[in-house]
Amino acid sequence: MTAIIDKLITGQSAAMVDLKNMVKMVAPAATTVLILGETGTGKEVVSRAIHHASNRKGDLISINCAAIPSELLESELFGHEKGAFTGADKPRRGRFEMADGGTLFLDEIGDMPLSLQSKLLRALEDRTIQRVGGGKDVKVNFRLICATHQNLKSKVDDGSFRADLYYRINVFPMQLPSLAERKVDLPMLIKAMMEDDTYMENGSFQFEEEAVGELMRYPWPGNVRELRNVIERASVLFAGRTITASEVRENLLRMKAPKFSEETNFLWQATADLGEPLAAEEALDRPPLPHPSDHRDWFAYFDEIDLRRHLQDIEVTLIEAALDRHEGQVSRAADALKLRRTTLIEKMRKYVIEKPAS
Ligand SMILES: Nc1ncnc2c1ncn2[C@@H]1O[C@H](COP(=O)(O)OP(=O)(O)OP(=O)(O)O)[C@@H](O)[C@H]1O
Ligand SMILES: [Mg+2]
Repeated sequence: MTAIIDKLITGQSAAMVDLKNMVKMVAPAATTVLILGETGTGKEVVSRAIHHASNRKGDLISINCAAIPSELLESELFGHEKGAFTGADKPRRGRFEMADGGTLFLDEIGDMPLSLQSKLLRALEDRTIQRVGGGKDVKVNFRLICATHQNLKSKVDDGSFRADLYYRINVFPMQLPSLAERKVDLPMLIKAMMEDDTYMENGSFQFEEEAVGELMRYPWPGNVRELRNVIERASVLFAGRTITASEVRENLLRMKAPKFSEETNFLWQATADLGEPLAAEEALDRPPLPHPSDHRDWFAYFDEIDLRRHLQDIEVTLIEAALDRHEGQVSRAADALKLRRTTLIEKMRKYVIEKPAS
């Protein structure tokens, strides 16, 4: 069992060792598991590990509640009888019935429409379902795993997720660490990905030692999925070559920014004079910001931090870096910082920042 878990889940950091132990303990039980974590942290991977380590005879049946229009979701989950609605010319089993004897993985459960949540609750309580348009109870024996990147508790508080359903599925919550919280796993993850034949068809490549350092400094807002994309990009761009630190910076990390995590960046919000934070949808297309979780362990080592001064230091450093990058051209540096030119000049005056000689 340990072998299959280690094969599916890569990582030796303390957080991952804990996680794998939890998977090992919970897999053989029939317990409902709730997997929580930012986008790309491996929620689906963990659901697979739990199923394959469970020894359940049936299949792992997955459904992404966010990807299926709500009018279709009900019949996808519960199946339907012939004539249940226009187009239902044959009876059809739903995912619950397909998962009989196996595992049902409800991905993005936070997006389950309210109208379906009570029907889902009933299915979980009675372990019986009714097909759409059918009156017969069908007994199903499934193990349930749910996952979401959303904060379900706050959805309960704002009324978009039923409290009784929340307590029903929140039996064994597993919080997946972000990649930023387990950067020590990067070399191992990269190695595992480089051994994956699908990429290596393009030809093998290597990273210089400093190049790995560069990857370690990056905050990885898109987590392991983003890392996978970068490695795939590397296999296309650098087949048969050794990649340097500056190539990592310029060609691998600078290309199109990844899907952005919905977590707000409190550090940046705290500097009120930098303007309003972006709405979540708007933030999706924006380049990444340093990840706040890099600071999460601060108080494990220190008693205090001067937040204002720290934010000021970050501001000064980034302004200097932008001016350097654009050889002292203030308006281009302002663009890079998403500030108005006049705002940047004000800040340079306030912090006594000189333009570098061009
Ligand atoms: N611990 C891990 N070991 C190996 N590969 C991983 C690990 N975690 C994630 N991956 C890889 O990263 C990618 C994203 O993983 P997965 O789809 O499980 O994330 P997710 O949390 O479900 O993301 P989303 O919320 O966006 O659906 C996949 O290609 C997966 O194989
Ligand atoms: Mg997923």
